[in-house]
Amino acid sequence: MDTKTRIGIIGGNGWIGGAVARAVVGAQLLPPGNLTLSCRSAPPGWLPDAHWTHDNQALIDRSDVVILSVRPQDWPAIRVSAPGRLVISVMAGVTIADIASRLGTPRVVRGLPNAAAEVGKSFTPWTASAQATDEDRATVRQLLDSFGSEDEVATEAEIDYMTGLSGTGPAYPALLAAAMMRDAMAHGLPPEVARRAVVALLVGTGRLFEKNDEDPEKTMAAFLEYRGVTAAAIEAMQASGFETAVSAGLAAALRKSLDLGAAAD
Ligand SMILES: NC(=O)c1ccc[n+]([C@@H]2O[C@H](COP(=O)([O-])OP(=O)(O)OC[C@H]3O[C@@H](n4cnc5c(N)ncnc54)[C@H](OP(=O)(O)O)[C@@H]3O)[C@@H](O)[C@H]2O)c1
Repeated sequence: MDTKTRIGIIGGNGWIGGAVARAVVGAQLLPPGNLTLSCRSAPPGWLPDAHWTHDNQALIDRSDVVILSVRPQDWPAIRVSAPGRLVISVMAGVTIADIASRLGTPRVVRGLPNAAAEVGKSFTPWTASAQATDEDRATVRQLLDSFGSEDEVATEAEIDYMTGLSGTGPAYPALLAAAMMRDAMAHGLPPEVARRAVVALLVGTGRLFEKNDEDPEKTMAAFLEYRGVTAAAIEAMQASGFETAVSAGLAAALRKSLDLGAAAD
């Protein structure tokens, strides 16, 4: 992608759309003037040098690459055409075929970022239509790398599954952390100390995994072999159905992501 590329983000003031716009400018991939961002409400004050619009067709007309970042339920109301454009959707559930036929371009990519895009730490799996070129793929990688890491996957089924896995971002670690915090408070710990403890635990875990490029299975095995306090806890959690609960949650997430796409058809 050269610095003359123009990018339009439909839904540019949203959680993900805004994070992508900030990342692209922050990584100096493009100057803000090459960005066009749309929203329905009044244009916000941030990124004043970008072009803000309510007109999605005007956004497409002045862009080479279009990022679709509205909620799936708002997708049916987007009535625009984007011939000759590379379109990258981050919408959960909405299929490449639907986007290609509605926007009139065969070059469509589906990526699924997560909320950590805001701090440059999203993991974004993506897949591309058969007509996407090698240059398109390079553009996608550059864009997604500006707010974290990415992997191309072979099928849309994998994207639907990953919507409930990595797309949920901090949600499941937060679920575990909140349960631990409640347990700590039930044992008399002051809430602020419990909160600091679990947040430090999450941050420390992330840093250790990054530093050692560690496989979680190996981490678990090391603690189990140690036969200490942690092994006792892991075994009790597993005996109480921890893994069954995780699988049930991920199955519910997959069903919901498929339902969102079907409802937006
Ligand atoms: N949030 C996540 O963690 C996450 C993770 C993975 C994937 N996603 C996907 O990312 C997409 C965006 O999610 P989000 O969390 O960023 O949602 P969001 O914060 O609600 O942002 C969506 C934005 O779309 C704008 N919008 C809606 N209809 C529009 C239209 N017709 N023209 C222009 N702008 C329009 C809204 O603008 P107004 O505010 O002006 O109405 C809003 O700012 C969703 O499809 C979601 O499935 C989200």
